[in-house]
Amino acid sequence: MGSVKNCAVIGPGGQGGGWAAKLSKHPECKLVAVCDINEKRAKQVAAANGNCNVYSNVIDLFDKEKLDFVVIATPHYLHAPFTILAAEHDVNVLCEKPMAINLQQADQMIIAARKNAIKLGFGFQHRFELAHGYAFDAARGAKGELGSLGRITDFALQAKHYRSGVYYLTSSQVDPKTGVSAGQWRGRWETEGAGILINQAVHDIDVFQYVVGPFKSLSAHAATIAKEHALIEVEDTVAVSFTAMNGAVGTMTFSTANKETTENFYRVSGENGYVEVRNNMIKADTRYKNEEDWEVPFQHPPRHNLLENFIDAIDNDTEPMIPPEEARKSLEVIRAILKSVNEERTVYFPVKDTISYPTLHNVSRDTVLKAEDLI
Ligand SMILES: NC(=O)c1ccc[n+]([C@@H]2O[C@H](COP(=O)([O-])OP(=O)(O)OC[C@H]3O[C@@H](n4cnc5c(N)ncnc54)[C@H](O)[C@@H]3O)[C@@H](O)[C@H]2O)c1
Repeated sequence: MGSVKNCAVIGPGGQGGGWAAKLSKHPECKLVAVCDINEKRAKQVAAANGNCNVYSNVIDLFDKEKLDFVVIATPHYLHAPFTILAAEHDVNVLCEKPMAINLQQADQMIIAARKNAIKLGFGFQHRFELAHGYAFDAARGAKGELGSLGRITDFALQAKHYRSGVYYLTSSQVDPKTGVSAGQWRGRWETEGAGILINQAVHDIDVFQYVVGPFKSLSAHAATIAKEHALIEVEDTVAVSFTAMNGAVGTMTFSTANKETTENFYRVSGENGYVEVRNNMIKADTRYKNEEDWEVPFQHPPRHNLLENFIDAIDNDTEPMIPPEEARKSLEVIRAILKSVNEERTVYFPVKDTISYPTLHNVSRDTVLKAEDLI
């Protein structure tokens, strides 16, 4: 066991509340503070988790507490400025997904993390599921040679994550300029950064690009279709066709609009068979293997999860499983999709991110806000 680390949660009102509970029980962590613009909510979370200190702005948090790491669980547009602020205070960061809302922000986070030599990890917990490692080996070979599938021909990803209109309208209230209540953050380009792509499907895109990437080019269509999503700015349905660097072709479909369909899967096909990951199960038909290779259930090894991995990275001075350069990849795919939709053309990697997308719902202001601008 490593030394006990002082930690804090920024944005404990939602998902961050789960982090506060986890950290307050962890033998190698001491939850010393929570910080949220919703002070009432922060006080409730603090009371439920050992009565740690409460802050309502991040400048005070970093000025007053001596921290080893913070978990950032705020709306997406704040991931970059808060990570950069933490790095400037030499505080390690475990940041929720997505990495940021655009590649300019992501690159500034990488620079800040590397310049200040902090550990920066991200909330892509699905990477720890063994099914994806199995699919990776079958598709690419454990050591980068061809896997058991042989030469890959095609890929398909489907990610359906139904979200009601209420989900968007009841998300917590933020104002990107003042940090005070002025409308919900989900469903807005400025604060969420996109719709299904950046919030729900970023997990699917992360594991998919890990197994099938890197991408060479893609072409996409997107729209906001569900009636109950009439008040949101961002996309609820997307279709993408793409080519991977290895020459194989593929498709991705995403939607938050299908009430009855929540099925998520991806399939990788090659000359020798296929692997399919569906509902945390893997189905493998590599033709030349045994019957036992079918439907291998995924399991979590006991200590191998996001938090343990991040703590190990601090203790052993190693990289977390999803360092910033890796977290950037799913964001690059998302930005490529949005660029393709808005410019109505095929987009090639590496992606030159666009400052704004005027044709799709007046997309996005792409500046990196400073923490001082938010309080
Ligand atoms: N890894 C996962 O599976 C997973 C699941 C759910 C959410 N998330 C991520 O967690 C993050 C939070 O999502 P959520 O659904 O909990 O949102 P939420 O709106 O429920 O919670 C966000 C909290 O941040 C607070 N906040 C807003 N501005 C702030 C500021 N300037 N300073 C301090 N606190 C501020 C809000 O008041 C709120 O309490 C997002 O990045 C989301 O994508 C990840």
